[in-house]
Amino acid sequence: MTDSSRQSTRQSWNPEGYAQHARFVPELGDEVLALLAPKAGERILDLGCGDGVLTERIVKRGADVVGIDTSQEMVDAAQARGINARMMDAYQMPFDREFDAVFSNATLHWLLDPQAVLASIKRALKPGGRFVTEFGGHGNVAAICTALIGALQFRGISARGRHPWYFPTADDYRHLLETAGFKVDSIELIPRPTPLPTGMSGWIDTFATPFLHGLEEDLRNSVIDNTQMLLSHSLRDSQGNWTADYVRLRVCAHV
Ligand code: BEZ
Repeated sequence: MTDSSRQSTRQSWNPEGYAQHARFVPELGDEVLALLAPKAGERILDLGCGDGVLTERIVKRGADVVGIDTSQEMVDAAQARGINARMMDAYQMPFDREFDAVFSNATLHWLLDPQAVLASIKRALKPGGRFVTEFGGHGNVAAICTALIGALQFRGISARGRHPWYFPTADDYRHLLETAGFKVDSIELIPRPTPLPTGMSGWIDTFATPFLHGLEEDLRNSVIDNTQMLLSHSLRDSQGNWTADYVRLRVCAHV
């Protein structure tokens, strides 16, 4: 994703690391995809298409899909799957009443100016078009954030400006949607404990690097060790398996 004053601290993505540590993200997309219910011939925008694994499933339903992402590496990976993917910033989409639906999975929590994003999405939709999204909602990875912040503060490092995400309540996001001119069909906060295939350190390396930005390697490693120690009581089982405390916000709205 490109830097922007409205975007959280830069997080870089590499398709191989994402496939190894975060394949569950598209794999857990069945329900939001069912909510989108793409139809053959529809023109659909996938905002934050990543490596295109979930986008490909929309294409297979016969829709004409454009994927956008701010990571060139992810766009390249999506194009290698045959997706019509472009590198583009969600705040500056040039689309004007072009899409039957805008879809977005696991992306909008990275964009810290939700009003501007919603205005851009609304502009991209045809009259009557729908917006279907799932992203982190209020309380998402709360234990992980608290442990990271605690481990930083224990070493005298301020966590100010390091928390990279926007995790709204259903009421707050409904209000933003309605203010932006959407009609909300459904909006739900869904606790979804999520097993981590490569453990907590794989998850932190993949998603939480903004918390560790600028730290020397030794310090970074000790913050990660301390975070894992704090979390082990609540998020690791007796076999050593880790589960993250995910809470999703799932939304269907139309213009
Ligand atoms: C994600 O991008 O899927 C994600 C980011 C932060 C917390 C949880 C999930």
